[in-house]
Amino acid sequence: MRMKQVYEDIGVGYLGSRSPDQRIARSIMLGLGDARTVVNVGAGTGNYELVDLRVVAVEPALEMLAQRPPNSHSVVRAVAEALPFRDDEFDAALAVLTVHHWSNLAVGLSEMRRVA
Ligand SMILES: C[S@@+](CC[C@H](N)C(=O)[O-])C[C@H]1O[C@@H](n2cnc3c(N)ncnc32)[C@H](O)[C@@H]1O
Repeated sequence: MRMKQVYEDIGVGYLGSRSPDQRIARSIMLGLGDARTVVNVGAGTGNYELVDLRVVAVEPALEMLAQRPPNSHSVVRAVAEALPFRDDEFDAALAVLTVHHWSNLAVGLSEMRRVA
């Protein structure tokens, strides 16, 4: 994991300023289909995590982890490029507004395919 995550700085105040867009939320819900277990990579504060699914969030920035609401899904501090999960551990993998920050997009996407 990179030592300094950009969202340690630009993530300050994220929870108060970035709330889910319901049109995007609806598309995600449709895209997830009948998935029951989901890994949400680059999860940030937890936008777009469906409450009635088993979601494990992945987020590298401590600033973002600190802003996750107390009742949000469980979260692992990690990066997309090295997901700490078994092959096929999840039904689906989700990544919203995050891939442009990854150090290696191909590796991150390959990791998402591996675990879901
Ligand atoms: C714009 S925020 C999006 C957060 C959330 N998905 C949302 O839709 O509100 C981008 C997130 O990607 C995270 N991120 C940056 N590099 C990452 C990486 N290599 N692997 C996983 N997440 C990363 C940032 O720390 C930040 O929380």
